[in-house]
Amino acid sequence: MSEQPIKVALLAPQDGSPVAAAEGLDKRKDLRLTKRSEHLSKVNGTGVALAQSHDIILFHADSVNDADLKAITGMRAEGKSAKLVAIASDAMKVTDLYRLKNAGVAEVIPDSITPDDLYQQLMSYARAAAPAAHAAPAALPHMRRGRVITVTQSRGGIGSTTVAANLADQLQDRRRRFSKTEPNRVVLVDLDIQFGTIAAAFDAPPNEVLYELAVNGDIPDAFVVEEALHRLESGLSILTAPDQFAPLDALKPEQLKALVANLRLRFDYVIFDLPRALVDWLAPLIEETDLMLMVTDTSVPSIRQARRLINFYTEENTDLEVQIVVNRESKPTFKRSHHKAAEKVLERQLLHWLPEDPHAAGRALDHGVPLSKAAGRSALSKSIYRLGRAAKKSLDETKKQPKVVKE
Ligand SMILES: Nc1ncnc2c1ncn2[C@@H]1O[C@H](COP(=O)(O)OP(=O)(O)OP(=O)(O)O)[C@@H](O)[C@H]1O
Ligand SMILES: [Mg+2]
Repeated sequence: MSEQPIKVALLAPQDGSPVAAAEGLDKRKDLRLTKRSEHLSKVNGTGVALAQSHDIILFHADSVNDADLKAITGMRAEGKSAKLVAIASDAMKVTDLYRLKNAGVAEVIPDSITPDDLYQQLMSYARAAAPAAHAAPAALPHMRRGRVITVTQSRGGIGSTTVAANLADQLQDRRRRFSKTEPNRVVLVDLDIQFGTIAAAFDAPPNEVLYELAVNGDIPDAFVVEEALHRLESGLSILTAPDQFAPLDALKPEQLKALVANLRLRFDYVIFDLPRALVDWLAPLIEETDLMLMVTDTSVPSIRQARRLINFYTEENTDLEVQIVVNRESKPTFKRSHHKAAEKVLERQLLHWLPEDPHAAGRALDHGVPLSKAAGRSALSKSIYRLGRAAKKSLDETKKQPKVVKE
């Protein structure tokens, strides 16, 4: 910016929430303030002119409606245009935040900001204003196509969350941290939206995004996904289940499709802990799955359920690779007759084995950390390590034969 004062338009309708931090802006020497008493959605015809004659348009947003979004898009549509800056309360929903950003709002500032800080922020926005200020969210730094692993179970409580969480931990391959290559980027998503326990497993907070998506029906984009992720100290990213009970059937297949597509772009491995219920929004995920792990024990009822589920999932994705993880049983030197019978029913090998180890599993849960940290030398942790290596190897092999993508 030159020495010219920056031009800020403040939309401050009489019946709207006042922008308290804007107090005193009109007294600043290097800022010229225009106050307008219309609502954002009412600037209509004059919106473009307002945007063209100012550097910044400042407005208050508690919630977002379609008329507001239309006004924002309209202001951005033509040539030179002011930077749109929204002041919002902490209570604003992530989905509303996303809608604002997606429509073209450049910055959203919490309404708790002080007048001095607001002034500083506005000055720095105006100085940094570049032609691309209103462009769509920046391109992703690394365009990846991560591999999708879904973890499911033949019966409740068999240990599928334990497998998903610790597999995610292993796939980071942090042993490489002293080498020149970076650890793998891994994200773990808790799709057990009503009873998920990933948050507890990592001593992390619940996240309401899946609840809000279920209620609002919005399609999540990169911004929403980014906001929803919680990054652990280990580098693992997690998307935890909401605290509020979301209706299980309220998510939509298109939402899952967008979520998976976004996560695949930014992570090497995307791991989903599936809910026990068979819901239609899982279909796009099953179609995108590169490897499904079915966690089971070898009892007859569990094997029968595993078979039914495999039938169901392979109907969704005929190429689906399903591998069996036997939990709470050490790998036998020789398979016993009931193991062989199970393999026959499943038409698959009992491939991975994780021993019963209540001490290690309990320690990990108590401390809210993965097994590698709680009991790295335990037999269970070592078996998970082997599972991670084997999963990676089989994914590397299938990568060489790319799937035919159905439209
Ligand atoms: N190999 C194991 N040895 C001992 N305990 C285990 C083992 N695997 C899991 N557990 C314990 O079993 C309990 C259930 O595990 P987990 O939550 O992973 O199961 P789940 O299949 O995800 O259950 P849900 O059906 O509730 O989602 C946990 O207390 C976990 O620590
Ligand atoms: Mg679980």
